[in-house]
Amino acid sequence: MMKTAIELHINGDSYDALVSPNNTLLEVLREKLGLMGTKRGCDLGACGACTVLIDGEAALSCLMLALDAVGKKVTTIEGLSETGELHPLQKAFVDQGALQCGFCTPGMIMTAQAILQEDPDPTEEIIKKKMAGNLCRCTGYKKVVEAVMNVRTPAGKED
Ligand code: FES
Ligand code: FES
Repeated sequence: MMKTAIELHINGDSYDALVSPNNTLLEVLREKLGLMGTKRGCDLGACGACTVLIDGEAALSCLMLALDAVGKKVTTIEGLSETGELHPLQKAFVDQGALQCGFCTPGMIMTAQAILQEDPDPTEEIIKKKMAGNLCRCTGYKKVVEAVMNVRTPAGKED
C-alpha cells in the first residue's frame, strides 16, 4: 500500500511519519512514534483505553486514521503535564487510589481532562455519564469518579 509522509502535531511538537492510508492514529502513536502512553485495548472503539484529545476533544485513536489527524492538535497522556510534575488529574488518581494495573488510566485521564475543559465543575452524574465509555477491569469506578470530582474547580472559585 502506498505510504504518505505526514507531519503530526502532538503535545506541542511536530512529528514526521510515513503512514499507510489505513494506519490508525493509535498505531502511529505507539508503533511509529514510540508514544506508548496511549493504550491499545479492544482496538474496536469499545474500551476507551486509546483516548487522546484532538483539538481539545476526547477521541478514540483506534477509530481515527492518522491521515485525519493532520493539521489537528493531538494531546496524549505524555503531553498532559507541561511542568514535568504530575498533572492534577494524574495526582488525584494516585492520591485517590483510582488505578490498579493502570492500563485504562491514560484513557480515563484524557477523557476526564476533556470533561473538565468543557465544564470545570461537572456534577457526579455528568462525570459518570461521560466516562461510561472508559472501561476498567480492576477498579469499581467509584474512586475514578471521586478522583475527577477532586479536580473540579467549583463555580466562582477560579483564580
Ligand atoms: S482501544 Fe480504542 S476503544 Fe478500545
Ligand atoms: S486499573 Fe486495571 S484496567 Fe483499570
